Amino acid sequence: MIITVTLNPALDKTISVSRLMINGVNRVEDTRLDAGGKGINVSKSVKALGGETLAMGILGGESGLYIQHSMDKLGIPSKFCFVDAPTRTNIKIVDNSMHTSTNINERGEPVDEATLQQVFENLKQEAKPGDTVIVASTNPPGTREELLGEWTRELKAMGVKVCLDCTGVSMRRALTAGPDLIKPNKGELEEICGRRLYFDVDVIAAAKVLIENGVQRVAVSLGAEGALFITEDQVLRVYGLKVPVVSTVGSGDGMMGALAYYLQEGMEWKEAAMRSVAVSAAQVMRPGSEPALLSDAEALLEQVIVDELM
Ligand SMILES: Nc1ncnc2c1ncn2[C@@H]1O[C@H](COP(=O)(O)OP(=O)(O)OP(=O)(O)O)[C@@H](O)[C@H]1O
Ligand SMILES: [Mg+2]
Repeated sequence: MIITVTLNPALDKTISVSRLMINGVNRVEDTRLDAGGKGINVSKSVKALGGETLAMGILGGESGLYIQHSMDKLGIPSKFCFVDAPTRTNIKIVDNSMHTSTNINERGEPVDEATLQQVFENLKQEAKPGDTVIVASTNPPGTREELLGEWTRELKAMGVKVCLDCTGVSMRRALTAGPDLIKPNKGELEEICGRRLYFDVDVIAAAKVLIENGVQRVAVSLGAEGALFITEDQVLRVYGLKVPVVSTVGSGDGMMGALAYYLQEGMEWKEAAMRSVAVSAAQVMRPGSEPALLSDAEALLEQVIVDELM
């Protein structure tokens, strides 16, 4: 079972206009609402691949109810803590003539310690030894910096695998708690190690330092360029796939979902890595944050090229 935790989900509202007029009146051509937030996207990806998943975290207000309904409609089991403050809405404005996408993201409401504690109690009830827990999202404002590390240590002691895709100090501090897998993109890895990473060798060196400090596996996604997959004794470079791009939203979450799912199924690191690139490339062919179609991912798998650098 793959359990995802989203502490700061979002209702993603995508508005398409023919040409965005700043300081003018814009007529909307198309609107869509998606249940969003990294962990929720990961659950959608795992479900689409045929895996068993449970989505957990915090929802609030009308927007939170909307997300709950859409998870129900997608057939994804969930167990969220409900609070009064509404879940944030993130607005994405797509300009169809300039082919640009402008994001306006709310920060989300602060969450009190008691609610976070409740989320963790629920999580400990659901997670069984051998399960995988994926904590993926920005933290709500004001969250204690030690939280992620404490959760990681406690879950690991229960025999649960822990994957992290978070940002900020809380993520940096959790890296010494021995997470099984992290999946930063290049910018996030730069933020973690505090310097620019120009070439693959720089990315590999930075990932190796994290592994020396206790992280088991590092997948660094490089957008259209593919990804690097690093463990203590293996370095794999998987090249990006050329696909018709419809929406790149959540492609990293699709990759995390695929990696966690295939590893949980007992697949080798190399096979799981190749499949996760095929799945994430298949996801960018889908609108909004919709997950990949399994049939697209299987077809793309034949085109995946991997170099074993170590
Ligand atoms: N334009 C693209 N063409 C082909 N594949 C892509 C493209 N963009 C992303 N991908 C695939 O998706 C993977 C993850 O993308 P990316 O590095 O952008 O993740 P991310 O920044 O974590 O995304 P997010 O957090 O928004 O989900 C890449 O490693 C690649 O396999
Ligand atoms: Mg990401």
